[in-house]
Amino acid sequence: MYRDKTCGELRLADAGKKVTIAGWVQRTRKMGGMTFVDIRDRYGITQIVFNQESNPELFEKANSLGREFVVQIQGTVEERTSKNPQLPTGDIEIIADSLNVLNTSKTPPFTIEDKTDGGDDLRMKYRYLDLRRPCVRKNLELRHKMAFEIRRYLDSKGFLEIETPILVKSTPEGARDFVVPSRMNPGEFYALPQSPQLFKQLLMVSGYDRYFQIAKCFRDEDLRADRQPEFTQIDCEMSFVEQDDVIEMFEGLVKHIFKYVKGIEFNEPFLRMTWADAMRLYGSDKPDLRFGMEFVELTDLAKGKGFPVFDDAELTVGICVPGCAGYTRKQLDELTDFVKRPQVGAKGLVWVKFEPDGSVKSSASKFFTPEDFKAWGEKAGAKPGDLMLIMAGEAMKTRKQLCELRLEMGNRLGLRDKNVFAPLWVVDFPLFEWDEETQRYYAMHHPFTSPNPEDIPMLHTDTGNVRATAYDIVVNGTELGGGSIRIHDALLQDEMFELLGFTPERAKEQFGFLMNAFQYGAPPHGGLALGFDRFVSILAGLDTIRDVIAFPKNNSGRDVMNESPSPIDQAQLDELKLTLVEEK
Ligand code: AMO
Repeated sequence: MYRDKTCGELRLADAGKKVTIAGWVQRTRKMGGMTFVDIRDRYGITQIVFNQESNPELFEKANSLGREFVVQIQGTVEERTSKNPQLPTGDIEIIADSLNVLNTSKTPPFTIEDKTDGGDDLRMKYRYLDLRRPCVRKNLELRHKMAFEIRRYLDSKGFLEIETPILVKSTPEGARDFVVPSRMNPGEFYALPQSPQLFKQLLMVSGYDRYFQIAKCFRDEDLRADRQPEFTQIDCEMSFVEQDDVIEMFEGLVKHIFKYVKGIEFNEPFLRMTWADAMRLYGSDKPDLRFGMEFVELTDLAKGKGFPVFDDAELTVGICVPGCAGYTRKQLDELTDFVKRPQVGAKGLVWVKFEPDGSVKSSASKFFTPEDFKAWGEKAGAKPGDLMLIMAGEAMKTRKQLCELRLEMGNRLGLRDKNVFAPLWVVDFPLFEWDEETQRYYAMHHPFTSPNPEDIPMLHTDTGNVRATAYDIVVNGTELGGGSIRIHDALLQDEMFELLGFTPERAKEQFGFLMNAFQYGAPPHGGLALGFDRFVSILAGLDTIRDVIAFPKNNSGRDVMNESPSPIDQAQLDELKLTLVEEK
């Protein structure tokens, strides 16, 4: 037996016991005739004492241990004279009477501690060492616990976990596919699934009623902090449901996870906000509701006073930042620089200070009277001491820019507390999105999303304003998940493809199997998928999903540990009948 105790479990009550533990050397400290070695495993750290006087040979052996050596130690548990309240095992130590070096280790390239000296790239190259750090391990433990609770909840609601294929048919909608050449069918390719969407709908046609899967998905898209090329969804589908049924079921899931994993109970139903309101009040379809600063539209009040920026604007809109009238010139310049950054892309910013003494100062005071500013302040509910920040221009663009500024102000004022969770549903998304470049409509969610039944008569006459029966769940400014009620009527689906610019032949070629299936009694159905990595990172209070994935890719989609992607042999290319073209 390698061990009978872990490095995390011994307590004062174990004093006097003879134990065997095994683990990695965290550090050694020599103090006079004693050497202290901290041994670490997944469960914790335990201090071992080697005494020169009582066992000189063992003492020498302990002094030759290096960091990350793998050892097995036998000894007796004793109460410590100087206890370490930081460690759960800090009341005891083990007086060693044998030491077995199970393996040596090269000196690791960075310290295996929460506050490590290793930079990002180095830690990713040696991810297997990075994973030894307790803070990283904690994230994967949380991930496991969440997966377990998700299965427990969904099982209790009658969902079946069913796996769907990883080698699938490539489809043109959505993000770019990762493709896989088929050796047995030269010149033909599989795609890796962007989601199990079509399969889960087919499972509803097959009568499985309630499906879920913790499913790997693959999307060849530009990466960001909350995007990885391969990621995991909690993917679900239900039959004989309407939007409220789906929302209720998965609100239940989210609440269950918060309760059993985080100990947080939400007793009220989550807020539901229409997409139009979310855009109008927060400039985003994923508003961060941990703080206020709702948008205030000033277009009419600000027009016609000779200030060209506002006169020419489709929308003039501001936020009222509480208590910031004291901002200095430098701070205001910083904010102007912030909105001018290419990522935000605004031309500028107008500020109005409502001074505590009742006076008003503004960067646009040349064009407006104090009464004008007061009218704006009234509309915004500004109090003495508040600062208004105002932007103007084309409506959608300006809203998005002001959204960035609102979030920046939230950060500056410490209002985006990682321990506060503000979930909401965003509903009534538009069904279509117009793309200027290709001059066609795209499905905002996907082509199988049902229009809001009330809006079906507008499909051809007012296409852009048709609402979808689609919903997103948003937490703290992150889109945690999204879904929709699907079209189960083959004729309506045909109409949808037509509006999306598919010829009947192309629709048949791409989605023929689904359309065929729908001719055999498709039940009304709908579902959603939650981003599992995002869910874990929100609960862990992390800014990037990379930290909750055991072996993530970097921002260029590379795994720097195993150096993939990588070229393949000519023989492999030949077998696949692939020829590489030199990049010009
Ligand atoms: P959607 O494309 O909105 O819907 O994806 C659902 C959720 O998956 C997460 N997600 C990602 N997480 C990490 N990296 C990515 N690249 C990434 N892309 C998406 C997000 C998102 O909300 N089949 C539909 C769901 C449905 O209609 O039932 C779908 O995939 O958290």
